[in-house]
Amino acid sequence: MDNDKLVNAKILVIDDDINMMDVLSVILRRYGHTVKTYTDPLSAIEELKKNTYDILIVNYLMTPVKGDKIVETVREFNKEIYIILMSIHKDLAPSIEVMQQLDIQAYYEKSNRFDNLIMLVQGGIKYIEQIKKIKSMNLQLEHYIVDFAKILLQTIGAKDHYTEEHSRRVTLLCIAFANYLNISKKEISDLQIAAAFHDIGKIGIPDSILLKTTRLTDDEYQIIKTHPVIAANIFSVSDIYKDIYPIMYYHHERYEGNGYPTGIKGKEIPFLARILTICDSFDAIVSKRTYKEGATIEFALTEIEKGNGTQFDPELAPKFITMVNNNREYIDKIYTEF
Ligand SMILES: [Fe+2]
Ligand SMILES: [Fe+2]
Repeated sequence: MDNDKLVNAKILVIDDDINMMDVLSVILRRYGHTVKTYTDPLSAIEELKKNTYDILIVNYLMTPVKGDKIVETVREFNKEIYIILMSIHKDLAPSIEVMQQLDIQAYYEKSNRFDNLIMLVQGGIKYIEQIKKIKSMNLQLEHYIVDFAKILLQTIGAKDHYTEEHSRRVTLLCIAFANYLNISKKEISDLQIAAAFHDIGKIGIPDSILLKTTRLTDDEYQIIKTHPVIAANIFSVSDIYKDIYPIMYYHHERYEGNGYPTGIKGKEIPFLARILTICDSFDAIVSKRTYKEGATIEFALTEIEKGNGTQFDPELAPKFITMVNNNREYIDKIYTEF
């Protein structure tokens, strides 16, 4: 049983012709649809903001507000509703360009025969069903990829414990910094996924290089440098991550342009990647490795300060330092308890 299956639609009709609306609602109800009618566009818009509808049927030629203006307002807050625009005559209908621009899916020329409109409503229901299916498939795919990435990270963790622990700490630092910067929920969520898996490309680095405790040769360093590209490749398998894999791809770029893999500089580097770079470097400095002792938080902050404007974004680096100083207890906890 498909629980999402939409058998009947919830339809809102806006028309200043009350008689026409009465006839319309009788017919649509006969087909099992739920119908609400409005003559006043403003109340209709309020209703659309409050409740979810599947289909909006709106008359084009109305006074004082024309149908396309109503659609324009509705599209500002609702991109999903299926819209059927009606008009009394094709010659008076808006142009195809306007219909496309406003994402109006169907046009109905008013007449005494309603079969056409019923067909358009049925078409709308099919369209909504497809959208729902695609959405649930995307959600599943998103879970699969994240699960897959978790397995990869654990695989790296089995041989290189540092990468797994480092990724966890960098994620916590990124969330704390993102909250301090007051960026949007969507950006925080993108950054969180990118931070959790930013070094996942190390799966493609041979153990002899990944686990080497002595200085890397130039050739070995060149191989290490491929890890952001490998990470981005893993996450670019789905469009769902189109805002996330660039954050991974650019996490070793430097503000002045001497980073890798591309050497882009300044604001060309995606904003969230610039945040990740700071948190990533901070953790790398504080962390104890087989070839070096861990540094104090104070020392790491002076290093961030030193890299201000060269490695790091000059607007973000001072903010990161303030964030760490303001949340010192929590940052200490990251290094003692997590
Ligand atoms: Fe990295
Ligand atoms: Fe890293």
